[in-house]
Amino acid sequence: MGSQLFSESEKNNQHQMNCNNGNVGPEAKLELDGKTFTLPVVVGTEGERAISIASLRETTGYITLDEGYASTGSCKSSISYIDGENGILRYRGIPIEELAEKSTFIETAYLIIYGHLPTRRELRRFSDLLTENQNLHEDMKYHFEGFPSTAHPMAILSAMINASSCFYAGLNGPRNVERFDVHAARLISQVRTIAAFSYRKSRGLPIIYPKKAYKYTANFLHMMFSDPYEDYDLKPEVVRALDLLFLLHADHEQNCSTATVRMVASTQANLFACASAGVCALWGPLHGGANQAVVEMLDEIYRSGDDGTKFIAAVKDKKSGRRLMGFGHRVYRNYDPRAKIIKRACDDVLAKLNISDPLLDIAKRLEEVALNDSYFIERKLYPNVDFYSGIIMRAIGLPVEMFPVIFAIGRMPGWIANFKEVMDDPKSRIYRPRQLYVGPSLQHYVPIDKRSDSPAA
Ligand code: ACO
Repeated sequence: MGSQLFSESEKNNQHQMNCNNGNVGPEAKLELDGKTFTLPVVVGTEGERAISIASLRETTGYITLDEGYASTGSCKSSISYIDGENGILRYRGIPIEELAEKSTFIETAYLIIYGHLPTRRELRRFSDLLTENQNLHEDMKYHFEGFPSTAHPMAILSAMINASSCFYAGLNGPRNVERFDVHAARLISQVRTIAAFSYRKSRGLPIIYPKKAYKYTANFLHMMFSDPYEDYDLKPEVVRALDLLFLLHADHEQNCSTATVRMVASTQANLFACASAGVCALWGPLHGGANQAVVEMLDEIYRSGDDGTKFIAAVKDKKSGRRLMGFGHRVYRNYDPRAKIIKRACDDVLAKLNISDPLLDIAKRLEEVALNDSYFIERKLYPNVDFYSGIIMRAIGLPVEMFPVIFAIGRMPGWIANFKEVMDDPKSRIYRPRQLYVGPSLQHYVPIDKRSDSPAA
């Protein structure tokens, strides 16, 4: 695709990706209606096995049914690897713990999008591209005027990312991978500008433009919290804590929002349209909105005077309809490795900022109770990435409604890399699942004067 940021070093680094296209393993046999069908088994880099059912309907007339996709692999991907049983997460083969300790969000973003750690030259070029593209088109400013001050920033973010695609030529069209590097950099850089502008707008505050001298995360904090007459005091521990949160959210294989991005990308929609759809999918409280829901839950517990005991009892009573937000995960049946890192960072940043947050005490107590309670043990429910991240964001001074936005900013490299994977695949087809119809069998049209009101109407 002639991407400018691909270089000789990338070719030399191909071994780091250590990816394959899925080796073919032993065949699976399926007995149906007295006949035996063979289905190929595909084996991933880490030995994960998948039964390929691509030809199932054609050969047998059957489809598979997997509501919620718990056992369905929708694609092959070489971006992230998760071992949910053992609490392992790697980006392009590199453990999340190593990246959290040694890398930055922007270096990790490059790794995720381009498949290898950048050389100095590549990183500089990438950073320059982000800086060159950080300003929104000036006319975009007027779009912010149309939102009520009560609008949730995720609604603004999604709308404005989509609106951005109207301003850039060459983005639309089939297989719109031309100038991918610029569009990818524009999206990573501008999502942060849009997020900060939407926050300032919601508070009736003047917009603060990005500064060329600041690095990515510092610039976001500057746009959020500086005033026209006084620059925000950029504390290194705050910048580092937020950068770490972005990094830890950067990708997470086929979660709901990434799968949405791939779904939209499979129609060959443009990158901005795909990312905008990703934001909508991320917004819900069972996904990226959980960080906001966790802090609201902790705050409610605190205000009620409960130490968490009554709340845990309510969660276990299914009639209450309550969940322990920030707990549980479709893939992890063990401690989410990101939650471990965030918990440590939380203690660290609160200590450095000299903040004592009662919500952190409640969170720790809830975790302790839950990890020793048979309800949570039997269901393998552990803290996920959202359980402690909100407490760090509170300490930084971010309002709760911005928490899912922080997640979206962090997840952008993952969405872009997944978009690229779909676009680069010459065999990519439109994503189009089947369904099992369970509605009425053939009915006939009844004229309106022959219909009777049902008792409930
Ligand atoms: N609190 C209490 N019970 C829970 C929780 C929870 N947080 N999560 C799951 N359960 C229970 C379910 O009620 C169910 O119990 P049952 O077997 O008696 O019916 C069982 O555990 C399995 O739950 P499912 O809903 O089938 O699990 P699923 O994999 O579909 O959902 C999810 C995963 C959405 C993350 C769920 O655990 C949840 O709602 N957690 C709280 C919200 C949250 O923290 N979301 C963030 C996820 S991470 C992310 O998106 C970044």
